[in-house]
Amino acid sequence: MTKILVQQGDHPDEATSVRILPDDVTLAVLPGESIVEAVRRNGLRTRYLCRRGGCGACKADLVDGAVAYTCAIAGTVLSDAEVTDGKCLPCRARPVGEATIRLSEKDCLRAVFGSIPTTGAHAGDNGEKK
Ligand code: FES
Repeated sequence: MTKILVQQGDHPDEATSVRILPDDVTLAVLPGESIVEAVRRNGLRTRYLCRRGGCGACKADLVDGAVAYTCAIAGTVLSDAEVTDGKCLPCRARPVGEATIRLSEKDCLRAVFGSIPTTGAHAGDNGEKK
């Protein structure tokens, strides 16, 4: 599979999905949502601050697949070298089809209520296992 790191300006209308490592949780990403928005909708949290692509706090590794950004990301936040190295900004990134990202160990998913889905689970709109 060809790995496309960034397609700036794309606005995918279809629901997609993201697999988040190391927790190995797969979430649906609804049309218009970023990865962080899908995480929040499922009652989970990870490390982020601005949620606007302006701080770099959410930076993660794009392990497989591709992501698109609905607006330009400043090179001071995500440099071309980082993009080439497979970094992405989940607060602004949407998977193109299916994508896999890896959070750093200190950025693992946390549940706001209840617990995160079990390993390899696919969470739906309400965060429950399907
Ligand atoms: S939370 Fe600030 S860049 Fe993603």
